[in-house]
Amino acid sequence: MSNKKKGMYKNLTSYGDSGFSIFLRKAFIKGMGHSEEMLGKPIIGITNTYSDYNPCHGNVPDLIKSVKAGILSSGAIPLEFPTITIHESFAYPTSMYLRNLMSIDTEEMLRAQPMDACVLIGGCDKTVPAQIMGAFSAEMPAIQLVTGPMLTGSHKGERVGACTDCRRYWAKFRAEEIDENEINEVNNQLVPTVGTCGVMGTASTMALITEALGMMVTNGASAPAVSAERRRIAEETGRVAVEIANKSYKPKDFLTIKNFQNALTVLSAIGGSTNGIVHLTAMAGRLGIDINLNDFDQMTKDTPMIVDLKPSGSGYMEDLFKSGGLPRILNEIRDYLHLDTMTVSGISLKEVIDKNNYDWPQQIIRKTNDPIFDKGSIAVLNGNLAPGSAIIKQSAASKDLLVHEGIVEVFEDLEDLANRIDSEDLNVTKDSILLLRNIGPLGAPGMPEAGLIPIPKKLAKVGVKDMVRISDGRMSGTASGTIVLHVCPEAAAGGNLNIVESGDVIKLDVNKRLIELKLTDEEIKIRHNNKKDKKIIKRRGYNKMFYDTVLQADKGVDFDFLRPVK
Ligand code: FES
Repeated sequence: MSNKKKGMYKNLTSYGDSGFSIFLRKAFIKGMGHSEEMLGKPIIGITNTYSDYNPCHGNVPDLIKSVKAGILSSGAIPLEFPTITIHESFAYPTSMYLRNLMSIDTEEMLRAQPMDACVLIGGCDKTVPAQIMGAFSAEMPAIQLVTGPMLTGSHKGERVGACTDCRRYWAKFRAEEIDENEINEVNNQLVPTVGTCGVMGTASTMALITEALGMMVTNGASAPAVSAERRRIAEETGRVAVEIANKSYKPKDFLTIKNFQNALTVLSAIGGSTNGIVHLTAMAGRLGIDINLNDFDQMTKDTPMIVDLKPSGSGYMEDLFKSGGLPRILNEIRDYLHLDTMTVSGISLKEVIDKNNYDWPQQIIRKTNDPIFDKGSIAVLNGNLAPGSAIIKQSAASKDLLVHEGIVEVFEDLEDLANRIDSEDLNVTKDSILLLRNIGPLGAPGMPEAGLIPIPKKLAKVGVKDMVRISDGRMSGTASGTIVLHVCPEAAAGGNLNIVESGDVIKLDVNKRLIELKLTDEEIKIRHNNKKDKKIIKRRGYNKMFYDTVLQADKGVDFDFLRPVK
């Protein structure tokens, strides 16, 4: 038997006799109909994240067929295998709670099974970062393929799509502007095909910044899930997977801090989801690269936001694809990028831009001198309420609230919010600040996307559309409003958010990057001392692992033990 460490010979099961291990392995895999000749070729693993619970991945079986065609035509053997899949609406308590579990699953399956490279097929918000985090840690040649965005639907002649319009119509229903019949009609139109949310939510953001990072084929991010182009992208991904397998070209061979800086710049230029920062921080962390949020703010504060997609703008991902996708965005912001960074396809970002210099007329990707939002679509805040940082997507906020001082109404947790937010007795005006705590990484747990605190019904009914809202949680990338998120340290970790009381005053000044609780240091200290210790809860299983090891938002909400060993 051969000693070669490739393909079927990799990661032999331990029987104390490597010859017997490969003999047995081949006997079993031949049961699937493979010939000896095929088993001598490089192996490309393909993650199958299809699930009846995940409509964002509804096209995965078709994509796998195309990936396999690309792999076979390049002389390797494709072997698909299942991993966990996560959909935003089918993950209790929240999808973020499970992201690290999916990354562990992906990493360990890449390590355990014989393969020379892997095609990671994901799409829904947490799946792409989970897969990349796993592949980075497994030090495996890997390439990302996304499922692609869904198409838009139509309600009474108006284009609608998940999920900015989900939230917009729900707000109308809460404000009693539309009735139950109409909200049910809209419900049928919001997700008209399989694929990921069609606005600049977290899935679209992660797809575009993963392409910008260099982990995807050129223009692989935006083609619709149900398009023929998506199938061709899958086929090309299979071919590139064989190339990286043959070269043993691993992420750490070409990814540097500059690739991550490019991804952060693109995040800002597309008006991407705030979740993108958390995921990129976690992904970089797996390669031992630290992303400092204040550096991110400095780096992107002059980056114009040029992509006109909801929630900050008006279009949908299918429009972005027709307008030229990421290569055209990169071309517009080339002066803000490191052009010498390399991609998984073995070409530099400069070559990607030069090869795809699209110039037809379109409305979605603006020139840098005609942006949707001047600069710095996401701002990083500091101050005594968030000594470890907080963020705000100012491009999706109300301009007149970006500098605001108001009296706070505190909600202790999600249950308190649900019980009181629609009460006629709630002591709020349009100038109040709503503060929700205990929805951070430890608090909820899993840092749910509950930062979009609803406008109290009594204010919504009189036309109030936006208020300053603050929490230690996250917000869906499809949402908008003047929302301060990811306050660090979170309340459950003893942050100052924990001692705020209703009636306190908070000052937000995004221009000065300030979020300040109007109390002296002494008053804050006294309040902390007066706080009762929390009841100790006995935990087991994944829940225990999560509570014992999860990091704060500014470190990507990864588990501490998944970072590289120093
Ligand atoms: Fe999957 Fe929005 S729910 S991308």
